[in-house]
Amino acid sequence: MDAAYSYRETLLASTRVSWRLEDVLAPSDRLDFSAPFLPESLAHTASLAALSSAERLTLNQLRGYSYLRLFGLVEEFILPFVLDHARSRVDAEDAEVRALLQFASEEAKHIELFKRFAAAFREDFRTPVEVIGPARDIADAVLEHSQLGVALAVLHIEWMTQQHYVEAVKSASLEPLFKRLLHHHWLEEAQHAKLDTLIAHKVAEPLGSAEIQQGIADYQRIVRLLGSGLDRQAELDLEALSRASGRDFPREAQAEILAAQRRSYHRTFIDAGREHPKFRRTVAQISRA
Ligand SMILES: [Fe+2]
Ligand SMILES: [Fe+2]
Repeated sequence: MDAAYSYRETLLASTRVSWRLEDVLAPSDRLDFSAPFLPESLAHTASLAALSSAERLTLNQLRGYSYLRLFGLVEEFILPFVLDHARSRVDAEDAEVRALLQFASEEAKHIELFKRFAAAFREDFRTPVEVIGPARDIADAVLEHSQLGVALAVLHIEWMTQQHYVEAVKSASLEPLFKRLLHHHWLEEAQHAKLDTLIAHKVAEPLGSAEIQQGIADYQRIVRLLGSGLDRQAELDLEALSRASGRDFPREAQAEILAAQRRSYHRTFIDAGREHPKFRRTVAQISRA
């Protein structure tokens, strides 16, 4: 077990930081489309020579939109995964059961928050924006894998969220409502990363070395699955940008934007989780055991 975290402490922390949906995004809240949504280190739009500065800003905002929609999408498989695990731990200590249920409840709240954000975004963006999916199909494809594989994929995502907020979002000057949303999400995700570390250890506990290896291989399969979704998302963003700016980009410009944005998606969503030292530490502990 990872002795660094406890269910009781994460439960207390989650009660302390807990927020209501209405306090973060009220129905009357409007987004400010004169500001960037994501820091440059997550969106990588500033150096795209084929775009005007207004188009770079629009692409940044489209990346902000897809950022939260993609979170909503992965949380659609995190929620059933955590609920299934909580069901299997119903006879555990009170603090563990409560912490797991709190985790699930917060993810359900985040899913709703991101849907509300998406509606607010679309209301003022004017032209259609699209995200990969449907979320249910992606969730089913992920949940087909072993429990350990899914636990590691969730852990990857939770630590990635922490890294994004602490190293990129926190000090950046961004659209205020979007930044507030990321701040509140991060507050609760900090507990999820710890809880999912405990879950991954619990799931790995009864497994033999062949099953552990299978779990790690499954994690890699899930990452590849998400990676191909991200490649497709970069295309959808480019189509949305073309609609929003009212121009068809020359073929060469399209290829350049697509290649750079695919690299960006992979750095932001894959490398940041897979290379996170705390994620790697858990994988090392589990595979050593
Ligand atoms: Fe979340
Ligand atoms: Fe989470």
